Amino acid sequence: MAAFSTAISLGACGGGSGDSAADEAAIQLASAQQAAAHEALVAEGKQIFRYDTFGDEAQWTDTLKMHEVIGSAVDPTTALSVGLKVDSGALPTAVVHGIQDGSIDLKSPDTTVALLKLDAVVGLKGQVESINGKDVLTRVGITCALCHSTVDNSFAPGIGKRLDGWANRDLNPGAIIALSPALDSAMKAVFNSWGKGKFDPRHNIDGVSNPVVIPPAFGLDGIHSVTFTGDGSEPAYWNRYVAVAEMGGQGSFTEPRLNLHITNGTQDLVTSKLPALQAYELSLKAPPPPVGSFDAVAALRGKAVFEGAGRCASCHSGAMFTDANAMLHPPADSMAEPEVPSYAARSATKLYRTTPLKGAWQHAPYFHNGSAPTLEDVAATYNTKRALGLTPQDIADLAQYLKSL
Ligand code: HEC
Ligand code: HEC
Repeated sequence: MAAFSTAISLGACGGGSGDSAADEAAIQLASAQQAAAHEALVAEGKQIFRYDTFGDEAQWTDTLKMHEVIGSAVDPTTALSVGLKVDSGALPTAVVHGIQDGSIDLKSPDTTVALLKLDAVVGLKGQVESINGKDVLTRVGITCALCHSTVDNSFAPGIGKRLDGWANRDLNPGAIIALSPALDSAMKAVFNSWGKGKFDPRHNIDGVSNPVVIPPAFGLDGIHSVTFTGDGSEPAYWNRYVAVAEMGGQGSFTEPRLNLHITNGTQDLVTSKLPALQAYELSLKAPPPPVGSFDAVAALRGKAVFEGAGRCASCHSGAMFTDANAMLHPPADSMAEPEVPSYAARSATKLYRTTPLKGAWQHAPYFHNGSAPTLEDVAATYNTKRALGLTPQDIADLAQYLKSL
């Protein structure tokens, strides 16, 4: 209908024959159809990002027995304390009231099971069955949202609306894995050493333990280089790696540069989901800084430092604040190096990508290993290590600018 009336109005505008007006209408229709198809793909990707485990219950249930410990020992208060988040949008009104008036016990593991049954724990997917009249968690898996989503705390700390793509720097994945009854104390000690907001996505491949901070999954559209080390040219590369190698999903991943060939199970529950998952990730924009979170006048001065005496823009160039589409950098260009063992050395490229800076305010601490607690520390570190000769005022202004991106 809309296309028909467009054709009429184009015809009425004159200038072209009826045929070319019809052609234009057809083109408009085709592009509207394309946009609708893309929207559908993004919507599908959102579901995958939030709720798909790729069959990784094989790892989290069959191998690590996480369902046993969650169902018997992890009450919601404990879950929130290790950085798990609750999606208030998934809570029925009665549950909301129950939490508000205290009639729902946040110190009982049964409540955790109830929340999992409602699909309300961000990044955890539970299967709950009624056994002898009691709800029992029989299987559990994880999704991408576990590490790359948080909530807006609008209901209570750790409980609110989902913020997909935001790095969950409260999450302590190591401490969560260490709860597994299937691990010996030496392994538990390794996982417990990682700390909040960090994960080592190569530990189970190379045996080295030196975690990196969980990065955001937003603000990547237009950047053809993913991960701190630019291992892949698009998110799908790394999504496949994580889904198979880290989450334990059913499928395979091959990386000749690391001589890595992994296959889990006999079916592939990953490949067909990657296009939609990637479309969703690329739709996630970096969030603007909260109102009042930086000094705008100082930020303007800081911009001049960034582009001038700080020489930041030579690498953090263009609208995305990165030269990632043109080059990667030797380890020495990372202010977090030298680091033993070097994270770059464990990667496929052995190099670092200049980190895009939009939305940097959201995810302290900074650099791949989190060695700079604040953006002030980032600015001061560059000044010292690169002997920039900035004044304390320049450094403070630069930090305000970084907070404004
Ligand atoms: C256990 C936590 C965890 C889970 C689960 C997880 N990731 Fe990540 N993700 C990380 C860490 C840590 C990195 C940093 C790795 C690096 O850059 O070397 C990362 C990196 C990324 C990046 C690269 C960001 C950039 O700046 O280039 C994207 C995109 C991403 N993850 C998306 C996903 C998707 C999609 C899933 C689900 C298939 C997923 N992640 C599951 C922890 C996780
Ligand atoms: C020679 C290239 C280069 C220059 C010059 C440079 N950077 Fe970087 N920057 C990088 C690389 C590479 C990383 C990733 C380092 C890591 O994670 O270990 C990075 C990381 C960062 C980060 C951390 C982002 C995050 O999310 O962890 C910030 C902030 C930053 N740079 C700001 C600056 C500022 C401010 C300047 C100027 C004083 C500057 N950079 C100059 C290459 C550069």
